[in-house]
Amino acid sequence: MKPLPAIAQTKKKDYGIFFTPDWVVDFMVELIAGGLLKKNEISILEPACGGAQFLIGIKRKNPFLFKKAKKVGVEINKEIIRHIEYLTSHIDLVHADYLLWDTKLRFDLIIGNPPYGIPSLSDHYSLKVDNATKQKYRNIYTTWYGKYNLYGAFIEKSINLLKENGQLIFIVPATFMFLDEFKKLRSFLARHGKTQIIYLGPDVFKPEADVATVVLNFKKTKAMSHRFILSEYKEGKVIQIRKENRWQGEIILFSTTFSKKLDDLCSYRLGDVYDIKISPRTPEIKHHPHVKKEKLSGHLPILNGSNLKCNHILYESLTGYWIAKEKITTLRNFFTKPHIVVGLGFREDGRVGAAYDARLYPWMGDVYHLLKKNSILTLNYDLDDEEVVEYLSTNVVKRYIKDIFREVTYHLSITQLKLLPLPSKKEWEIIKKEWL
Ligand SMILES: C[S@@+](CC[C@H](N)C(=O)[O-])C[C@H]1O[C@@H](n2cnc3c(N)ncnc32)[C@H](O)[C@@H]1O
Repeated sequence: MKPLPAIAQTKKKDYGIFFTPDWVVDFMVELIAGGLLKKNEISILEPACGGAQFLIGIKRKNPFLFKKAKKVGVEINKEIIRHIEYLTSHIDLVHADYLLWDTKLRFDLIIGNPPYGIPSLSDHYSLKVDNATKQKYRNIYTTWYGKYNLYGAFIEKSINLLKENGQLIFIVPATFMFLDEFKKLRSFLARHGKTQIIYLGPDVFKPEADVATVVLNFKKTKAMSHRFILSEYKEGKVIQIRKENRWQGEIILFSTTFSKKLDDLCSYRLGDVYDIKISPRTPEIKHHPHVKKEKLSGHLPILNGSNLKCNHILYESLTGYWIAKEKITTLRNFFTKPHIVVGLGFREDGRVGAAYDARLYPWMGDVYHLLKKNSILTLNYDLDDEEVVEYLSTNVVKRYIKDIFREVTYHLSITQLKLLPLPSKKEWEIIKKEWL
């Protein structure tokens, strides 16, 4: 195959262009259901098709299927379309934004690699989409929620374009398994068919992109909806990890014998006992009327994630921001109560950075605050905050996190933190005796 035209690296990022390795294309083509292969008439769509790698992959692996199928590719970038036209004479190439593409066509098979990224014009995000277009997406897609990722909208659109019993095979980031912004997408998947997720891990797009991916293998069917299987691809084999017949779109986690043991032992989850709040972000600190950029008398340094070590806080200025002690409540009220602080990122050895702030300092940036709930559930909770910090800093929690979230995220979201098992005093004694 003739190489695609050289597209500047920045432009590539703007469109979310990362080409799928051939072994992944072949693996995904092999997932095409036998029932579809037997059909006399079959229509196949590759959305965001780039070089039409998947349609070409079908031609390579199954020339007979390629020959009999009606094939459509949709691509937003005219430059790319122009270049591949010569090798795709049997493919209908549509120049359109897939998410706004208005079509009456319906497909038996939709296969491909959609773009990944939070759409925005800001430098902070990689996929460049203007606000008016983003608003259109938001109005069209029922699964759009929070800082939604474009790949979620590609999944929704594709399922809508599938015929009954049609199949969707996409390689996408694994984040939809448990991040909050995909909760509507998970329930959409559960309502519309049977979902298989095959975990591929973090290496597929390295070094261009560092993202843990899965193959989503979805069958649109009313009969089999609410079914879900989690598997992983390891040394050429697909190994099943979990299966549910009544999945409603709940968070999907990996599990191991060890994680199950800790789940079974602990009577609580962190989210049962604590409310979790995030620190003020840098822009808020920068524009805050009482924040100073120098040390004045009666002022405290504002701490951030770098001040937070495992079970230990460096009470010194690393941020260059200060605030008068009596003005701390103008930032957050809870800064005046001793409480547990937890870092979003893991510490060097992979452990959670958690400590107890007894000295009531102000915080900013990537730091969570755990505030004891006042509810019937927490009334009998008997482990004190210092012991909870000790537990969170252990290798037991480190291992649990690795076992259930694998390499999917490099930091802890509030949803993930809430899910961590939390022992009572008696259970903590067992952990110390058996595992530490
Ligand atoms: C992640 S690549 C996938 C390329 C190819 N399918 C592969 O696996 O190698 C994304 C492709 O999607 C195209 N694209 C990005 N946004 C799109 C949109 N909204 N509609 C259609 N195509 C889009 C880009 O121009 C790029 O060619």
